[in-house]
Amino acid sequence: MNLVAQTHGKANVRMGDEVLITELEHHSNLVPWQMLCAQTGATLRVLPIDDRGQVELARLDELLTSRTRIVALAHVSNSLGTVLPVAQVAARARAVGAVTVVDGAQAVAHMPVDVAALGCDFYAFSGHKLYGPTGSGVLWGRRALLEAMPPWQGGGDMILAVTFGKTTYNSLPYKFEAGTPNISGAIGLGAAVEFLESLDLQGAHAHEEALLAYASETLGAIDDLRIVGTAEDKASLVSFVVAGVHPHDLGTILDEDGIAIRTGHHCAMPVMDYFKLAATARASFAFYNTFGEIDRLAAAIRRARSIFA
Ligand SMILES: Cc1ncc(COP(=O)(O)O)c(C=O)c1O
Repeated sequence: MNLVAQTHGKANVRMGDEVLITELEHHSNLVPWQMLCAQTGATLRVLPIDDRGQVELARLDELLTSRTRIVALAHVSNSLGTVLPVAQVAARARAVGAVTVVDGAQAVAHMPVDVAALGCDFYAFSGHKLYGPTGSGVLWGRRALLEAMPPWQGGGDMILAVTFGKTTYNSLPYKFEAGTPNISGAIGLGAAVEFLESLDLQGAHAHEEALLAYASETLGAIDDLRIVGTAEDKASLVSFVVAGVHPHDLGTILDEDGIAIRTGHHCAMPVMDYFKLAATARASFAFYNTFGEIDRLAAAIRRARSIFA
């Protein structure tokens, strides 16, 4: 995101232009665009969400204009699980001449991703979300756009020839890889991708959908528990709050039972603001999770409730 904002963004976004994001974004797909807008005098616009945590597509008519240069959105929301209608948004963005940048961090490990079918221009994800090393990741972009973009950082490897007067930049992808790269991270990421590709991703996705349905029903039956984010199209996670139990306390008590959930604002503070919450608890499921584990989760939440009752 930072690379695209600081290269394609800086080269194409001017004073008075607009960058459109959604209210669901992780800070990492919000702050880089805010920084770009501050640097260029462009305006950041936000596609709002509704009470179920779905983007309000009907507002696109008003928010997507001839001034929109970039539309940046998540494929899957990390805080609520909402699957965003990327293909529809990308088609609408293209019609006004804007490029679409997709944050795929939460999608790649949970569903097959086809950038051509999505019709986006850039797609990025982090290695550690697909069982790979931290500090590694992938940026995919349309070749013509990548060719036209200036380099982001300078240093070794991104050059073909250097004199004091002039530097000729290297070809793709080296143009964007200044300095000694995270070689071990990339090898680890490659192994993680091979591991994922060895799975039946469609089958894994179907299993995760079944886990989501079971978890929504099981957790939804707990008194005083409210599920936050009930989008029609949702990935396998349940964000929730329990009246009278702070999410951090819940996380600690569940941890005693050997259950790892994430608690907090999930690096998506505007989403918490929308729901007027400081934090939620979030249980996310992967292909290796079981229905029995969801029963254990529910029992542990009930135990936490009884402690605070
Ligand atoms: C949707 C989403 N985008 C971006 C990120 C951030 O990834 P990174 O910390 O690798 O920049 C995360 C995870 O923390 C995420 O869930």
